[in-house]
Amino acid sequence: MSESSDRPMTFEDVLKARRSVRGFLDKPVPREIITRAFDLAQLSPSNSNIQPWQVFVASGKVKDTIREQLLAEITAGNVNQPDFSYPGRFENVYRTRQVDCAVAMYNEMGIARDDKVGRLNAMLRNFEFFDAPHIAFFCMEKSFPTTVAVDLGIYAQTLMLAFTAMGVSSCAMGSMRSYPNVPRAVFGFGDNLGVLFGMTFGYEDTTLPVNRLRMGRRPFEECVTFKE
Ligand SMILES: Cc1cc2nc3c(=O)[nH]c(=O)nc-3n(C[C@H](O)[C@H](O)[C@H](O)COP(=O)(O)O)c2cc1C
Repeated sequence: MSESSDRPMTFEDVLKARRSVRGFLDKPVPREIITRAFDLAQLSPSNSNIQPWQVFVASGKVKDTIREQLLAEITAGNVNQPDFSYPGRFENVYRTRQVDCAVAMYNEMGIARDDKVGRLNAMLRNFEFFDAPHIAFFCMEKSFPTTVAVDLGIYAQTLMLAFTAMGVSSCAMGSMRSYPNVPRAVFGFGDNLGVLFGMTFGYEDTTLPVNRLRMGRRPFEECVTFKE
């Protein structure tokens, strides 16, 4: 059902309702809802139907253990060792958008531009999973080329939309690729699998200022070309 009425959500409602949530209630999502969402995400298309995604979902004490270990990595000042590289800093218009995104978030959180401690704490919230009751790690074979990562992106969006339709909020998290050896050791998956990104999910804490954030998009005309 949509938030404002009793009618079921349309596809457009679901698309517009999904957004990244960065503060969650201490309320686990029932297992049947989680499994329903993952079951629906299996409908995602992939090149040659190879279905390359391998996902590891931590809840309860396992989630707490991973959270503690990730925070310990940061506190110890350990360097990130991602399985797949990602530019920390983009260039040109992409840098502008990257900065705009961070500034918009800090503004909602009331963190001033020169508040280094506030920014550090905001960064650490990633590794606290924004207090979400669940954290998922999305993996694929390290030997796969980047083109296969496309399939995981499609899969992740399908999952997030399925969650949204069931009233569950989420946030995709590239930050979760920083210390892949932590989830690797806890879940015991092989070194053949690399962590591409993570995703927190749970029920939104609507009282938090950070969850007022609404990121805009540029008009599609700027990025889609039609020719007849
Ligand atoms: C692959 C991916 C990785 C992301 N990583 C993070 C992250 O580590 N931390 C975070 O707070 N948001 C992260 N985001 C959320 C983006 O900042 C967000 O999708 C973007 O600003 C658009 O906002 P919206 O999702 O609310 O529409 C990530 C999103 C994607 C798709």
